Amino acid sequence: MGSFPNWQNFLFLEMELPMILHENASLQRFNTFGIQAKARYMVHLSSLEDLAELASEPSLFRSPRLILGGGSNILFTKDFDGLVMKVDILGKTTLKESDESVWITVGAGEPWHPLVLHCVERGWGGIENLSLIPGTAGAAPIQNIGAYGVEIQKVIEYVDGMDLTTGDHRRFTRDECRFGYRESVFKHDLREKFFISSITLRLTKKYHQLDTHYGAIREVLDRNKITHPTIKEVSDAVVAIRQSKLPDPSVIGNAGSFFKNPTVPIERADAIRKSHPKMPVYPVDNQNVKLPAGWLIEQCGWKGKRVGKVGVHEQQALVLVNFGGGEGEEISQLAAKIQESVSKTFGVSLMTEVNII
Ligand code: FAD
Ligand code: EPU
Repeated sequence: MGSFPNWQNFLFLEMELPMILHENASLQRFNTFGIQAKARYMVHLSSLEDLAELASEPSLFRSPRLILGGGSNILFTKDFDGLVMKVDILGKTTLKESDESVWITVGAGEPWHPLVLHCVERGWGGIENLSLIPGTAGAAPIQNIGAYGVEIQKVIEYVDGMDLTTGDHRRFTRDECRFGYRESVFKHDLREKFFISSITLRLTKKYHQLDTHYGAIREVLDRNKITHPTIKEVSDAVVAIRQSKLPDPSVIGNAGSFFKNPTVPIERADAIRKSHPKMPVYPVDNQNVKLPAGWLIEQCGWKGKRVGKVGVHEQQALVLVNFGGGEGEEISQLAAKIQESVSKTFGVSLMTEVNII
């Protein structure tokens, strides 16, 4: 059994799991890259009771484990030699309401975009700019999902879950989540140690703070002659923009942006701009700016490039794709080549956003 001394025996002989433990389970339909990889064991957790049952076995917590939501931010480069815990905990509850706000608690396994539509339909504001992001609600705080000027941290009230090292329930307030650009405490110190079971959001019922400053949103609204947009009109605009440039994972395998947009000292950006005056630059603070990784990758000639069964999307150079039958290792190697050429050409390091397993 290699890295699982006694564990398999324990699970099969002694443990009375209410859920099914799948052995050598295919992960292909559980990751949006569509990579064919296998999990030594996989279990679908549809309630906190399932999790508690699983957690009641200490040897399980010593085994390699992976918490899996919608698999839209993961690249499998090999089979996973451990236990995959697929998060299927559902449920949306209105916790309380005031004149201006509503607090909702959402099960970690709820799919994200239908949740956005659920809120938009009820006139609840705050997450409309995050329309059409794939994945689950429970994974949303992990990298503090963001799009079109809004990040989930804006509406997170708290995050609940189980500390897998102790089995204790823990609640993180927004401050305790230590959110940053594509960052949170869950992505680092608590990686694979904390199982998010639900998130609680505070949304607006009136006095919505719509964020339409992003150029692409403004363009769609102007084109449709919308001067005072509703929450739904903002959501619709975001959906239209995303559909026009991001590949649909059900058609072509991908995990959205493969790299993060790099933050660099202003001097580095100035140096690049001497030879590339049109490079877009976004302010961060007095010393740093953010550069668009997609632009850097395109300038290095990678946009639309195909290498065997994998490649770089032809409309968005930040998105690596699996044309079908590609392996995770091929995508990982392509990513390394892109990092090398951006580093050589611009002296800028690209960090991966996707979780590489
Ligand atoms: P998974 O890929 O399953 O997991 C991601 C990480 O979170 C893993 O480390 C996993 O172990 C951990 N995890 C998952 N669930 C839990 C849990 N309940 N408890 C603890 N850990 C957990 N992201 C953005 O921020 N903005 C975008 O605009 C955006 N656009 C995208 C567009 C496309 C076409 C695609 C394919 C992806 C895009 N993404 C975007 C990335 C991705 O959708 C998000 O990061 C999403 O939140 C991942 O959710 P998931 O359920 O698929 O997570
Ligand atoms: N650009 C190019 N060539 C390209 C791609 C982009 O020159 O091939 C330029 C664009 O012209 C634009 C700039 O780069 O000037 C930024 O491009 P875009 O607006 O498409 O956004 P992005 O920076 O590539 C980020 C997020 C996305 C998010 C969008 C919208 C990151 C790593 N990515 O992409 O998030 O949806 O902004 O807010 O921050 C994700 O995280 O998976 C993701 C898709």
